[in-house]
Amino acid sequence: MPVLKTLTKVAKQVLQSPGCGCRPSVIPVRCLGVSPRQVASDASFHSISFSETDHPRVLITGGLGQLGVGLAKLLRKRFGKNNVILSDIRKPPNNVFHSGPFIYSDILDFKNLREIVVNNRITWLIHYSALLSAVGEANVRLARAVNITGLHNILDIAAEHGLRLFVPSTIGAFGPTSPRDPTPDLCVQRPRTIYGVSKVHAELMGEYYHYRHGLDFRCLRYPGIISSDSQPGGGTTDYAVQIFHDAIKTGKFECNLKPDTRLPMMYIDDCLRATLEILETPADALSMRTYNINAMSFSPEELVQEIRKHVPEFQVTYNVDMVKQAIADSWPMNFEDSNARNDWGWKQEYDLPELVTTMLSFLSADSRLAHAY
Ligand code: SER
Repeated sequence: MPVLKTLTKVAKQVLQSPGCGCRPSVIPVRCLGVSPRQVASDASFHSISFSETDHPRVLITGGLGQLGVGLAKLLRKRFGKNNVILSDIRKPPNNVFHSGPFIYSDILDFKNLREIVVNNRITWLIHYSALLSAVGEANVRLARAVNITGLHNILDIAAEHGLRLFVPSTIGAFGPTSPRDPTPDLCVQRPRTIYGVSKVHAELMGEYYHYRHGLDFRCLRYPGIISSDSQPGGGTTDYAVQIFHDAIKTGKFECNLKPDTRLPMMYIDDCLRATLEILETPADALSMRTYNINAMSFSPEELVQEIRKHVPEFQVTYNVDMVKQAIADSWPMNFEDSNARNDWGWKQEYDLPELVTTMLSFLSADSRLAHAY
């Protein structure tokens, strides 16, 4: 196992307001279903004390993906453990199950979703269920169902129940005809992946529901997100997560993108904080409903150089995956996020050196722990 050299720091609205600022118009709702059953895995979150009623009641879909558990932890610190419900269609690991309310929810099942929102008096919905870029290309029908039909269910329920709705978008919502260096908030968006198409659809549908029906829709276009304790699944930017695991475990890494492929990236703590910040921003401060956010941009070779400052003997080879490379070549190299900075004070805390130090510190501590048992 390679020796870590110097690890010093350890872990760290467009047009106008909806309609005319008047009450939302009547929202079309799907046929009312009977909702007789309580969906409760934790009886305690139905008994809310008075002080808890001041806080939002949050449901996170796709909660077992790369971001859900971390976001739940942050929101629970702020709003109380029982006010934040994680949901997924998969079984939660022990630590997640015991950390706060977790329930089964299938975003493709409209009645199940409505029942959860009603029974748990949900007021904020964070919609993290989605198939990422590379895995979406390998299963277009499923990506279309989850990313588009699922979103329609979410939008209808959010509108029907007056929820604040957050849906992440992505650098993948741009395509080869978009300006790439930098990519502004408003420009041509002609992505060539089902993931990108579904995310442009989500941005436009969310904004349509906002202007047409007064839905409190909020959306951030995330860069590639890098995290130490949760893994992404099937994205084009995933190399920038795996590389840290391999540097620690084996000292070797095979990269599936060309060395000079530059993409916008962000450390997970910045991403989760940005998400909470936009959710808490007063509506009148939002000049738009969909914002780019960025922290840094780097290529594999630049990332390798930074890692080698800590792991000098780190060996990297390149074996390019043509599907991922074509996707990356159509995406922004640099993200222009001045609207987020001006409207609601967005500012990242992690740059490339800080990211590398933090990731290596966390993962090497984990690996030392694993070896101690
Ligand atoms: N991380 C995503 C992907 O690579 C981009 O949003 O698919």
